Amino acid sequence: MTAAIVLAAGRGERMGANVDKAFLSLGPKPLVAYSLLAFESCADIDAIVLVVRRNRMTASRELCRRFGILKLVKIVSGGATRQDSVRAGLSALPPEAALVAIHDSARPLVTPALISATVRSARETGSGVAARRIVDTVKVVERGNVAVSTPDRSKLWAVGTPQTFRTELIRRAYDAVADAGRTVTDDSGALEFIGEAARLVEWQKPNLKVTVAEDLTVTGELLRI
Ligand code: CTP
Ligand code: MG
Repeated sequence: MTAAIVLAAGRGERMGANVDKAFLSLGPKPLVAYSLLAFESCADIDAIVLVVRRNRMTASRELCRRFGILKLVKIVSGGATRQDSVRAGLSALPPEAALVAIHDSARPLVTPALISATVRSARETGSGVAARRIVDTVKVVERGNVAVSTPDRSKLWAVGTPQTFRTELIRRAYDAVADAGRTVTDDSGALEFIGEAARLVEWQKPNLKVTVAEDLTVTGELLRI
């Protein structure tokens, strides 16, 4: 079976003023509901584990009921960092989940087709990471605002979520990262830490991460709500 971990335990600090980003309204629904509904309607997903802040556990249960998230198997409380929240989700997976799709609820434009593409890749190769080729030229800045070099753009991809893996592989990777006292900012970074290359799944449609307040407006327009 394939399970999903939907992460919604962040603090949303860059949104400003003490908001709980995952529960902010985006048109008619809270932000986290868009991702939950995409996984609910994806035929390749069998179970959903939702990770939220402790004070949102009850509200989350109610939200899943309201939006008909029948694949929900567990709601767990997250940790101080994204990595801690992912590990909390991994610990809560049903034992029969051979594959796991990890997703940031801050990306509400995720679609069942994108989820399926990452699952297919993970089934075949062990991993499938939503990614796009970088269109901007990227600068390396060592200090202040002084650009010191320009990496070869043809080698640069931006990764997002979902990131789907064989469960055994991503567990082993995160255990190694934790044992070494390290932090990674995305799941495929944990794979790299154990010397495993992650497979990227090219996705050109918008999949932006709601980070600052303006992103909610843009996302609402893309969703036409
Ligand atoms: N996340 C989480 N637990 C954390 C930190 C982040 O579950 N301790 C989740 C967020 O809910 C989000 C995703 O990881 O869906 C990506 O994180 P980000 O966009 O950085 O969200 P926040 O951490 O909430 O925002 P900020 O960094 O501005 O505080
Ligand atoms: Mg964050």
